[in-house]
Amino acid sequence: MSFIVAIDGPAGSGKGTITKLVGKKLNLINIDTGAMYRCASLYMIRNNIKLDELDKISEMLKNIKIEQANINDVDKFYLNSEDVSDMIREKEVNEIVSQVSHIPIVRERMVELQREMGKNDNIIMEGRDIGTNVFPNADVKIYLDASAEERANRRLKQNDQKGIEMSYEEILENIKFRDNNDKTSPVAPLKQAEDAIYLDTTHMVIEKVVEEIVKIVNEKRK
Ligand code: DC
Repeated sequence: MSFIVAIDGPAGSGKGTITKLVGKKLNLINIDTGAMYRCASLYMIRNNIKLDELDKISEMLKNIKIEQANINDVDKFYLNSEDVSDMIREKEVNEIVSQVSHIPIVRERMVELQREMGKNDNIIMEGRDIGTNVFPNADVKIYLDASAEERANRRLKQNDQKGIEMSYEEILENIKFRDNNDKTSPVAPLKQAEDAIYLDTTHMVIEKVVEEIVKIVNEKRK
């Protein structure tokens, strides 16, 4: 039986970085489910498939192959064997990924793929609905959160490093808008699983959050 750690939480809660570090420390395969929705979005952009073209989307879901690999400590994503790691973070993808992730047939297929990944390996999977929907019986469930203001600050720092110009106010407004969208979505709304451990990282450094989760997982694994 595989061991499954589910990490959920809103945008900017630090899920990506933390999942990667915990996975490395505990020898768990790290899976970024947001990247899977990003790959599907990129495929739709490239093939000019519109959000309401369900026949074409259904055809795409039969043909699409999404893989994740860790190469020299860098997570790589492959769409039908092509390395698309950078392309899935570009603006065009950012603009439609949330809508793509809310198309029920896309979600169904991605969830199916995610469950397959957890069949034989010990994994740590991050997303929005991992503890509530993908793996309701996960061994450990963590819900990471932070205040909208702190998440905006973190995003501002990341943007500065990448040379992206956006004001703090603009980022904060965007985060609040996305939170509301994610939490009120009729399809897989973001919410904490009843049996998830809630971690508010607003005043915690990354190392401390990682240490805390490692401790929780080790307790459970005993
Ligand atoms: O974590 P991210 O920004 O890469 O996620 C991209 C989009 O996919 C985001 O709009 C939320 C959505 N998503 C989802 O609906 N369910 C998941 N399990 C992961 C991401």
